[in-house]
Amino acid sequence: VIRLGKASAPPAPGDVVDALIDCHARIREFTALAARLAAADGAAPCEVRSAAEQVHRYFSVALPLHAEDEERSLLPRLSGRDAEVDRQLGEMRREHAEHGDAVGRVLLACSALAASPERLPEVASSLAAAARDLARHFEPHLEREERVVFPAVRALLTPPEQDTIRAEMRARRGA
Ligand SMILES: [Fe+2]
Repeated sequence: VIRLGKASAPPAPGDVVDALIDCHARIREFTALAARLAAADGAAPCEVRSAAEQVHRYFSVALPLHAEDEERSLLPRLSGRDAEVDRQLGEMRREHAEHGDAVGRVLLACSALAASPERLPEVASSLAAAARDLARHFEPHLEREERVVFPAVRALLTPPEQDTIRAEMRARRGA
């Protein structure tokens, strides 16, 4: 039996940057889970369905919320303070608009597998390609945010501003 495993979602203690880093860990986890799902030939149908549902839920619900966190809570507060940060924020927004295609292909494959897990052999190669494209897209993107944008939150924003961002993130998730 091939165990696809679950991507975990532990609570995020710490400050707003810890919470954002936690989101990035989940982007990497679910991208990896999409790739494992594509390679799960022979797995039990219930496992295929469960993994497909998890991946679909993550990329259709949670990922857009994370992009909103960055574009609506971080970007307006960090803009205009530092030339390098401004440059990275511009890149960040441009790249957010670019991952829609690969995300769409992952969602399409996972919808099919959630409804009919026995279709894995038919869907596997397009899911594998989409997962590979996502990984290629996200790795430099996440790394740049972690290297430049997230440290700027701690360095350039006051504690009350950081608390407001954390509250906006929670409100977006209905918490
Ligand atoms: Fe991000």
